[in-house]
Formats: sequence, structure tokens, C-alpha cells
Amino acid sequence: MKTSRIRFVLIAAMLMLGAAQQAWAGVDADTAMIARGEYLARAGDCIACHTASGGKPFAGGLRIKSPMGVMYSTNITPDPVHGIGRYTEPEFAKAVRLGIRRDGKNLYPAMPYPDYRAITDSDVQALYAYFMKGVAPVAKTPPVTALAFPFNQRWGMALWNFAFTSDKPFVLNKAESLEVNRGRYLVQTLGHCSSCHTPRGVGMQELALDDSSSSFLSGGELNGWGVPSLRGMPSWSVADITAYLETGRNGFASVGGEMTGVVDHSTQHLSAEDLQSIAVYLKSLPEEKKVAQTHSNSDAATQKTVQQLVQGQNLSAGQMVYLNNCEACHATNGKGAAGIFPSLNGSEVVQSKNPTALISVILKGAQTPSTQKAPSVLAMPGFEGRLNDEEIAHLATFLRSGWGNNADAVSTGAVSKVRKSLAGASKG
Ligand code: HEC
Ligand code: HEC
Ligand code: HEC
Repeated sequence: MKTSRIRFVLIAAMLMLGAAQQAWAGVDADTAMIARGEYLARAGDCIACHTASGGKPFAGGLRIKSPMGVMYSTNITPDPVHGIGRYTEPEFAKAVRLGIRRDGKNLYPAMPYPDYRAITDSDVQALYAYFMKGVAPVAKTPPVTALAFPFNQRWGMALWNFAFTSDKPFVLNKAESLEVNRGRYLVQTLGHCSSCHTPRGVGMQELALDDSSSSFLSGGELNGWGVPSLRGMPSWSVADITAYLETGRNGFASVGGEMTGVVDHSTQHLSAEDLQSIAVYLKSLPEEKKVAQTHSNSDAATQKTVQQLVQGQNLSAGQMVYLNNCEACHATNGKGAAGIFPSLNGSEVVQSKNPTALISVILKGAQTPSTQKAPSVLAMPGFEGRLNDEEIAHLATFLRSGWGNNADAVSTGAVSKVRKSLAGASKG
């Protein structure tokens, strides 16, 4: 009797221990899965669109301007009423990859599902675990998107999907290293880099969703701000690219425009290996054929401009404005100081076909985000109060032709237009 009782207690204890161990293993697996999902959510930059400025993470409500009208992102916290708490994993997968909501209606492609389409099953599973168990529920419904006819007809997006999206899964390119393939996966799917860096067609669709086309990542335009090509990145080394994605700056450029948020919320949080893979992959893409790229960023061309500026005789109006306002930081050779003041000599922003970004930076200034690896915030002051439209036009024209830079002159009218549109934007 006594021994059997002891045996019973022992067995019970062993069973409980086993169960506890199993439970622990379960919790560990769960925690690891949620952590992986969190990392993938960063790689996918879900927070950028699903959080209103000053709002709770993932509670939606960000106002997104689109050619179809104003849209609002939705609440993707696990709240069952206001968020996606009732989504099953297959329903979640369908929303993220196919753009179809739980109620069967189509999402608008402001949600980048055409890019997310090839996210792997195991990554979707981890994302789901994170959104269900790693994100705090928020009981608030954001403003509802109400587009005008015909765009309020969500079923119309089914036709759009049929015409413009692909259902090709992600396939490993066996001819290339695992590193290149990892970079390709991150860039083509979660990173949705192509949603900004690939030109758009008549239906506002990305002209290419993967690198089988040379339009892929060949540069685009966002609200008049030129988005550079990422193909081959001939003048940047792998280290230049990883530094830019990790710290928002390198010897050539500081991050600006819409890319600022990408670095801030997404790329600065990626592992060194993943950033390296992205850089190696971008460098593996054949460069796009540039139309008449005659920019001669030679030492001789730089020296010619330096001499003019240093001698200070017969300076053009634009050169005068440069010496008085910009030279202190960006230097006479236009090369700034590596990692502190970006180079204007050979710069993509300065020579972009559309000068809107350059004019915006001169008017409003710019700020590098504070990243983990480079916490300081470098600021470029805005000159809207100090320089008039004509002075800025002269200045921009000089920048686009000095030091071997080669881009069209900028008119006073073009500056006035940007100044007006920025004044309108800041009023809301
Ligand atoms: C570029 C902006 C953008 C990014 C990045 C983005 N989303 Fe969205 N998402 C939206 C918008 C806008 C909607 C609502 C679209 C509509 O109303 O048709 C949406 C809708 C959704 C829905 C449907 C929710 C519902 O209300 O039923 C889910 C789920 C979702 N997103 C998940 C994600 C996940 C997960 C990520 C990151 C991997 C992500 N989104 C990244 C813009 C974005
Ligand atoms: C929301 C739009 C958007 C997304 C998404 C985006 N970018 Fe960008 N990116 C930009 C813009 C705009 C610029 C130009 C920045 C400037 O003018 O300073 C840029 C610049 C860059 C540059 C600098 C190139 C150069 O020659 O100056 C790199 C590198 C880059 N992006 C990589 C990426 C990668 C990799 C991804 C995906 C993980 C990505 N971007 C996603 C908008 C975007
Ligand atoms: C006090 C120092 C300072 C002065 C003066 C200054 N800048 Fe800048 N400039 C910066 C910094 C810092 C950045 C990087 C900011 C960022 O992160 O985008 C920058 C960025 C830029 C960029 C964007 C480059 C890129 O690759 O993203 C342009 C173009 C530019 N400046 C032009 C000018 C012009 C033109 C003037 C004179 C009207 C000027 N700057 C005056 C410090 C300065």
C-alpha cells in the first residue's frame, strides 16, 4: 500500500515533470517563432503603413494619398473586433499574399501584396504568430477608406490582380550563391523595395515584380521625388550599401525622402548577414542602360570648378549663392565630408532628371534618421526663408553642372512650383 502510493506519487511527479518540460519546450518554440515573426515584420516594414503618426503600433489609421483617392491603413493588432484577431492563419496568409480580406473582399494595392506574394509559408506562419501573440491589441477602428466610384468597387481589384500581379512562387536560382538568393528573397518579397524603386505603368502597377525583367528596380518617382535605380549600383561598394541601409548614410549620400522611414523602421534593424545579402544581390543585377549618361565625375572636372570657386573671379550667380550658403558644409570640391555631409559631386539627388527632390531639400533642409549604429541626427538647414526662387534656380543650375555633374538647368518657375506645393502640403 505504502510502496504503491510512493510509486504513484513518483509516477505522477514524473508525468508532471514531463508535461512541464513539454510545456517549456512549447513556450520556447513559441517565443522563438514570435521573435522570428517580429524580425520579419521589420523586414516587411509593416509598421510604416499600419501606424498613424503618434498612434499605437499597428493600430492603423495612416492616411495614404493615392491616385485613386485617400486611403487609410487598417488595424492589424490582434483585437478581435477592431483588428485582425479573428483571422485564422490561412486567412492572414490570403490577406498578406493575395490581397484578399477575411470577408472575401479585395484589398487595394496600397497594401503591397503584389510584392509580398512570394513570402514563404514558414515566414507567413512566423508573422502570424507575432501578430497574434507578440503585438498588443488596440480596441480602436481607424477611419474607413471611402473612395469615389469606380474605385469603391473593390471587386474591380480582382481584374487588376488578374492583369498585373503574378502568382509565381519564389524560386531559388541554383546558379547563384545562397547569399545572393537570400538577398533576392528579402528585396523581392518582404522588403517590397520594388514598390518604390520600380517604375509604374498605366495601371499604376509596378512594371516588374522580379528580376526577370530589366525594369525591376530601375528607378521610379514618388510625388516628384526621384527614386534611384538599385540595379548594379556601380559606384557603391557592398560596404557603402550596407552602411546606407544600416546607418542612413555613407560617403556618397544621406538618406532622404521616403527612404528615411525605410531605414528608420526597417533596414537598420536587419542583421549584418541580411544587409550583406541585400547588398550583394543588388550588385549582382545587370545595370540598366542609362540614356546618355555623360556625367564625367573626373578629378579634372572637379578641379576646374574648385579653381573657379577658389579664385572667386567672374563667378556665376549660382556659384555665389553656393559659396555664401553651402560651401561651409559641402566643401569647394562638392564632396562634403564622408559620413557627415553628403557629396553633391556626382550625387543622384542633384542630377536626377526631375529636380523636385533637389529643390525640396534646398527649401526645407533634410535630416538623417537617428539609427542604432549612428545615433546622431545630422541636419541640413532649410533655405526657404533666406533664398528666393531665382537664387535657388541659379544655385540648382550650378550644382547640376559643376564638378562634372551633368543635368539640365532649373528654371525659376520650377522652384516656385515646388515652393507652392510644399506650402500646400504642410497645411495638411
Ligand atoms: C505600403 C503600405 C503597407 C505596408 C508596408 C503594409 N501594409 Fe498591410 N495594408 C495596407 C493598407 C492601406 C491596407 C488596407 C487596404 C484596403 O483597405 O484595401 C492594408 C491591409 C492589411 C491587412 C488586411 C486587414 C484587414 O483590415 O482586414 C492585413 C492582414 C495586412 N495589411 C497585413 C500587413 C502585414 C503583415 C504587413 C507587413 C508584412 C503589411 N500589412 C504591410 C498598407 C500596408
Ligand atoms: C517607400 C518607398 C521606398 C521603399 C519601400 C524603398 N525605398 Fe530605397 N529609396 C527611396 C527613395 C525616395 C530614395 C532616394 C533617397 C534620397 O533622395 O535621398 C531611396 C534610396 C535608396 C538607396 C540609395 C541609392 C542611391 O543611389 O542614392 C538605396 C541603396 C535604397 N534606397 C535601397 C532600398 C532597399 C534595399 C529597399 C528595400 C529593402 C528600399 N530601398 C525600399 C524610396 C524607397
Ligand atoms: C550646416 C551644414 C550644411 C549646410 C550649410 C548645407 N547643407 Fe546640405 N546637407 C547637410 C547635411 C548634414 C545633409 C544630410 C542630411 C540628410 O540626412 O539628408 C545635407 C544634404 C544635402 C543634400 C541631399 C544630398 C543627398 O545625397 O541626399 C543636398 C542636395 C544638399 N544638402 C544641398 C545643399 C545646398 C544646395 C546648400 C546651400 C544652399 C546646403 N546643402 C547647405 C548639411 C548642410
